[in-house]
Amino acid sequence: MKKTQSNTRNEIVKRLISGEFCSGEQLGQALGISRAGVAKHIKALQELGLDIYSVSGRGYKLAHAISLFDKTSLLKVLPEYSEQQIHVLHVIDSTNDYLKQQIQFEDKERLRNGTVCMAEAQTAGRGRQGKKWVSPFGCSLYCSMYWEFDGGYQSISGLSLAVGLAVVRAVQSLGEMDVGLKWPNDVYAQGKKLAGILIDVEGHMHGSCQSIIGIGLNMALPGNVEAISQPWTDLQQIFGKAPEKNMMAGNLILHLNNVLTDFEHSGLKPFVEEWNQLDIYRGKEVRLLMGKNAIAGKAKGIDDSGAVQLEMLDESGNLVTRSFFGGEISVRPA
Ligand code: BTN
Repeated sequence: MKKTQSNTRNEIVKRLISGEFCSGEQLGQALGISRAGVAKHIKALQELGLDIYSVSGRGYKLAHAISLFDKTSLLKVLPEYSEQQIHVLHVIDSTNDYLKQQIQFEDKERLRNGTVCMAEAQTAGRGRQGKKWVSPFGCSLYCSMYWEFDGGYQSISGLSLAVGLAVVRAVQSLGEMDVGLKWPNDVYAQGKKLAGILIDVEGHMHGSCQSIIGIGLNMALPGNVEAISQPWTDLQQIFGKAPEKNMMAGNLILHLNNVLTDFEHSGLKPFVEEWNQLDIYRGKEVRLLMGKNAIAGKAKGIDDSGAVQLEMLDESGNLVTRSFFGGEISVRPA
């Protein structure tokens, strides 16, 4: 295996999980790096939020036991999956980028529809609009799924909205909860962001589209997490306790498979009504920011193509309903 920073950090975590002290010398020998190199990687893992301490003469140890994503537990929840379809990593740059790299191997077994990559931490997690997705260790679900659609780019129009529904269904399967969707694809609970979706697409205009569907679902983020630019919540705050992570991940993967299978056959249409029921802005006075332009209107949910509909006054002062495909929506202050 190519020796990358992520691989080395994965190996260090694997050894620390034992719960025993690991000396810098042992780790260095096992990984073929110097003790100073080990110290550098340990510092990086601490910065990702992994609670590691050191005792002189004994080495490094995890401050407390942690539960991790684990293939065996996931396979129990996902009986249809083969081992090759589940990639579980401790530290990776981005689960989306990892799956993107797998496309080039063109190994159809490794990359069947539904293949997933899960990680405990991302060093370069990506959000929408070029933003960073803050991804500390073990606090969230960072998950990407591969799916290939025939029929060019038009066959995936509205895909991210359907994926939002899959996330809501997975979360609601844990218990009754006030969870909703903010157009186009943010999952909200109690007025704050609970999960985000980023879809990368590789392919041709009219040929098949290879999509990588990335989901970041907040499980139990530390209170002091910095650099998240908007109000957020997590499953721990909502349910009082974070759900067991493999069970949550398995649920999400199952719901995603169901939604993507239906979407592949019938597009967005069968999901529109359910989406509109969950729309947190429906019936509210909103503002749609498109570049420098702000369009004001009353949100009327989405249409069959996934465009957001606004009831607004046209140039002649008539009340009309118009559909928009882009922009950022927010509630208009009263
Ligand atoms: C958003 O900005 O709302 C989208 C966030 C998507 C984050 C997820 S985490 C797993 C996957 N890997 C990434 O680098 N991004 C997505």
